Amino acid sequence: MFETLKPLPMDAILGIMTLFRADSHPSKIDLSVGVYQDEQGRTPVLPSVKRAEQAILAAQDSKTYVAIAGNAAFNRSIEELIYGKDHPALKAGRVSTVQTPGGSGGLSIAGHLVARAKPNARIYLSDPTWPNHQPLLKVAGLTLDTYPYYDYAKHRVDFEPMIARLDKASAGELVLIHGCCHNPCGADLSKEQWEALTQLCERRGLVPFIDIAYQGLAEGLDEDAFGVRLMAARLPEVVVVSSCSKNLGLYRERVGVASFVSANAEAAKLATANAANVARGIYSMPPDHGAAIAAYILGNAELRAQWVKELAEMRTRLNSLRRLLVEKLAARKTPMDFSFIAKEHGMFSFLGITKEQVIRLREEFHIYMVESSRVNIAGINHANVDRVADAIAAVLK
Ligand code: LMR
Repeated sequence: MFETLKPLPMDAILGIMTLFRADSHPSKIDLSVGVYQDEQGRTPVLPSVKRAEQAILAAQDSKTYVAIAGNAAFNRSIEELIYGKDHPALKAGRVSTVQTPGGSGGLSIAGHLVARAKPNARIYLSDPTWPNHQPLLKVAGLTLDTYPYYDYAKHRVDFEPMIARLDKASAGELVLIHGCCHNPCGADLSKEQWEALTQLCERRGLVPFIDIAYQGLAEGLDEDAFGVRLMAARLPEVVVVSSCSKNLGLYRERVGVASFVSANAEAAKLATANAANVARGIYSMPPDHGAAIAAYILGNAELRAQWVKELAEMRTRLNSLRRLLVEKLAARKTPMDFSFIAKEHGMFSFLGITKEQVIRLREEFHIYMVESSRVNIAGINHANVDRVADAIAAVLK
């Protein structure tokens, strides 16, 4: 039967990672997949994670199953990270959270739960969005639509067209919003825009579906959760998906959550039971190790403080690399103004160059980025930034 399957194009992001790995050039540069790299181009295990891991391995005396919804202490700690300890929705028992295999697992469980509650529900995705949102939510049974998000000419959020589009959506439809560090464009909503979007959702009965996979990498753990917290306080229903891949660097351990704010505590109980039941029908139980690490760190004051510091170092580095790249490009007097990169947040920005120029960067200069011209800022360092800037200037000539 397998001969009937169709050959596939390469994955927009992971395909570039494969091309990068296959390149034997000694000074190739990887600006593709969204993985943090330090000044030496490595993605090390965070010291706080190492300490937690050692303590867990020393104490662990069983590998029996944990639970379909995962580690309860982890779920509570992540809820506090997302919503804030004293959030009214938490206090009212309106929040249910299940641990999932990464943020992608969270998107899948959340998508399936929404589809179970409201078959074929329409969800509006930002244009552009992370390319994996589409297959994950489509397979879950949702009907996909889009809203304009990014103004490629002005390099900023295209807010008026976005609001105009969503103002035509019907009650009960969902809107996928990037909580912070928009992937792929790096342009985030301002507080005023979050407020206006919340009012729109209130007025039209829309349900936000917030992906906050990069919490802590824009301005801070609390600052980055501004929009989620606002919406969860004001709206009856919100879907939230998060991940510990980036902020705890737990990528391959696959740690995430799907979290649901329901209209009341009774509905929240139904959401919890049904989300667990959805997971049971897909993978049964999430992997434990990464969530155990996150729970240990978040539950231990000293380790938590250490992690918050390590996260701040990653964030500060990303923000300073943004400024450095802008300076280096400005010094080369490129025909394009790249100052917008310093105003954006998180790992990604679009350079705004053509696909042909992206391919030239890859083939002639061994610099790899997604063909949309999305760059992972964390792949830049003081040793390679001049080469990156020279190459971009060269392809723009
Ligand atoms: C990315 O956008 O590069 C990351 O989220 C990794 C992935 O799985 O696509």
